[in-house]
Amino acid sequence: MKESSLSNFYGRDYLINPDVLIPRPETELMIDAVLNLVGKSYLPGVKPSEAILPQDLTIVDVGTGSGCVAITLKLELPDTRVVATDISKKALRIAEKNANNLSAKIEFLQSDLLDRVDIKPDLIVANLPYVDENWEWIDKEALSKEPVLALYADNGGLELIYRLIDQVAERDIKHLILEADPCQHERIINYAKKRNYSQQETRGFILSFVSGRVLPNLVLPQN
Ligand SMILES: C[S@@+](CC[C@H](N)C(=O)[O-])C[C@H]1O[C@@H](n2cnc3c(N)ncnc32)[C@H](O)[C@@H]1O
Repeated sequence: MKESSLSNFYGRDYLINPDVLIPRPETELMIDAVLNLVGKSYLPGVKPSEAILPQDLTIVDVGTGSGCVAITLKLELPDTRVVATDISKKALRIAEKNANNLSAKIEFLQSDLLDRVDIKPDLIVANLPYVDENWEWIDKEALSKEPVLALYADNGGLELIYRLIDQVAERDIKHLILEADPCQHERIINYAKKRNYSQQETRGFILSFVSGRVLPNLVLPQN
């Protein structure tokens, strides 16, 4: 039996074991970014921005791990349809347990990125592996307790993120929210731009994109 424990994410406890990434506080901003898109306040007293998407949207969480992002989104936005995918069967087993424990109705699918996803969601959220194993500042000893599959990616850590951007563009999916180290943001924004995705917002490690160009607010002259 693998040793399991509980880890808190967005105020709820998740079962984790060595098959999944330990949820990180920086990933919580991904939830705030989605709530912002649907015009829902994510902090008491903070006025929400104007909704860009309806609250009954369809979301695919790619690389769900413990399920923390997918489950939080379903619980914060009960009218959404949430599909959670991972390439790892073992991770999906933990994510399903967490969804049951927290009574979140999620659809789970084993898939390499979007390969087996046959719906066109309104939004893709993805905290994929983005650590470059050559980064000198990473604590490899501390990270050794988590799955290699959840942490590292080739091409400066950007291999999977680039592949996902290609798939999202091929399928003409309107909204994409990604997590990456801030030192990678410029390269990701440039890559996405070439596939006609504009950066909408950056919050810490979280980048939001929308297909097409983001036009500045036009102020029309009044007659
Ligand atoms: C950084 S972890 C994120 C887990 C969770 N979403 C979170 O934020 O805590 C990345 C996850 O992506 C999964 N993954 C790695 N390669 C993948 C691929 N090609 N397609 C889908 N999922 C993948 C890993 O198994 C892992 O669960």
